[in-house]
Amino acid sequence: MKWYAGSDHAGLELKNELIAVLRDRGYEVEDLGTKDGASVDYPDYGKAVAERVVADGALGLLVCGTGNGIAMSANKVHGARAALATESFTARMARRHNDANILVFGGRVVGKGVASDALIAFSEAEFEGGRHKRRVDKLMALEG
Ligand code: RB5
Repeated sequence: MKWYAGSDHAGLELKNELIAVLRDRGYEVEDLGTKDGASVDYPDYGKAVAERVVADGALGLLVCGTGNGIAMSANKVHGARAALATESFTARMARRHNDANILVFGGRVVGKGVASDALIAFSEAEFEGGRHKRRVDKLMALEG
């Protein structure tokens, strides 16, 4: 499974750490930026990652300061289901029940250890389908 990653300046450090976690586990990861500490706008990176995830049927990793702004941005892209997580249970269930295709963290909220565990839980989980598919179908129909 291919991954796309993105962050603003506030999420840069954690994003880089989590990209290394994914690569260590054998995933191909394309980093769509930002790549230095200069102040940037999170919607640019949420949009870029979400568009590539949807177009390629890939998975995404996004990080900003709280995770909120970049998650909101990604979820404006049709087909994106970006889930903000602070621990592994939420991350795992975002895949199992919500068929999330993007996992989001706040780089000012969670540390590398907790975020790594959550990312691994997300990456190893699978959508359960069934009644959850009916609900995700209704969710996606809200996009119009
Ligand atoms: C940047 O200062 C900060 O506002 C941003 O990273 C994020 O937390 C917004 O939701």
